[in-house]
Amino acid sequence: MGTLRVGMVGLGVVGGGVAKILQESAAELARRSGRRLELTRVAVRDPAKSRDIALPAGIVTDDLAKVVEGDACDVVIELMGGTTTARDVVLRALANGKSVVTANKALLATHGAELFAAARQAGQTIAFEAAVAGGVPIIANLSQCLTANRIESLTAILNGTCNFILSKMHAEGVPYSDVIAEAQRLGYAEADPAMDVDGTDTVQKLTILAQLAFGAVADWATVPRGGIDTLDLADVRFAQQRGYTIKLLGVAQSTPTGVQLRVGPTLVKNERQLAQVGGAFNAVRVTADAVGELLYYGPGAGRMPTASAVVADLVDTAVGRARLTFDTLGLWDASAPGPAIASP
Ligand code: NAP
Ligand code: HSE
Repeated sequence: MGTLRVGMVGLGVVGGGVAKILQESAAELARRSGRRLELTRVAVRDPAKSRDIALPAGIVTDDLAKVVEGDACDVVIELMGGTTTARDVVLRALANGKSVVTANKALLATHGAELFAAARQAGQTIAFEAAVAGGVPIIANLSQCLTANRIESLTAILNGTCNFILSKMHAEGVPYSDVIAEAQRLGYAEADPAMDVDGTDTVQKLTILAQLAFGAVADWATVPRGGIDTLDLADVRFAQQRGYTIKLLGVAQSTPTGVQLRVGPTLVKNERQLAQVGGAFNAVRVTADAVGELLYYGPGAGRMPTASAVVADLVDTAVGRARLTFDTLGLWDASAPGPAIASP
């Protein structure tokens, strides 16, 4: 049995979970991949930091080149976050003949066109199941299982941090400011939690889903968005007294003038399924012409659910499924423009 040598950039919340799965499920993963998946290099900012995961000596480095260049790694997992160094990491990995797995929605929403073009040119792939809805396999479902359908709409809770905060505000009457630190401690929030609570993270994920569902490429920065950072307990009480729950929803809808996208806090009737999605869970409601209505639901943030999606992408890369998906999806492909984005 051969070995796929895996390089990783980032050993934080998600990277630590990936390392744990690779260690604890090595035999099962080898059976499913037809190859041993061996972590050969892990780049971090501070190799001296104490960590809750033990790796063999000599693997951890602060030298990104040891992961993205040279022959120590066949494939690179980008789990550092951000859009500047991460862009450089992905471009260098691709240029050096390494396919990429990433959980970084900000990176894809901002530089997707450039990165996908670079991957095509290099004959490599980019897999990104973990970039949207954490452990919920929404990317695979939209790109593989629903291809018989014309999607009509997506209505989604896509940010675990906001859903966790809103759930606590509703259930326990605690103010927003008391809950955000807990969301950070549990590993749900972005390095800059403003990205979560101002709606940016939800918009970035929504534009990725909209491309899979409708083929429409949107500039996330122009999508109308609101966050939960302007809500207080008085808003929550107002909703509760009238039989509603406030959710941060992303909505993408096919209309005669193009695909409409919006993100914002929304009153959802308590008896609707989306109102009952609690904690850091995410949910995506899909309506489509053939299948009708589907609801995907599960943990949308946090170490192990997100690592589950990352490692699935790694196995897909090892066995060639990532190649099939990458080649057939035509994401960010300027030669195949999709429907227009409707003006707000
Ligand atoms: P994190 O806990 O902050 O970990 C970031 C890791 O990247 C750390 O290990 C850090 O090194 C390393 N790093 C940062 N800058 C670096 C640099 N210049 N060179 C080398 N290493 C560098 O972040 P995370 O929560 O795991 O998130 C990682 C990515 O996954 C982000 O794109 C995020 O949006 C995405 N994501 C996160 C979740 C979640 O629930 N957390 C879910 C889905 C997707 P040090 O450890 O030395 O500081
Ligand atoms: N900060 C993100 C969230 C992580 O809370 O949903 C998962 O993408």
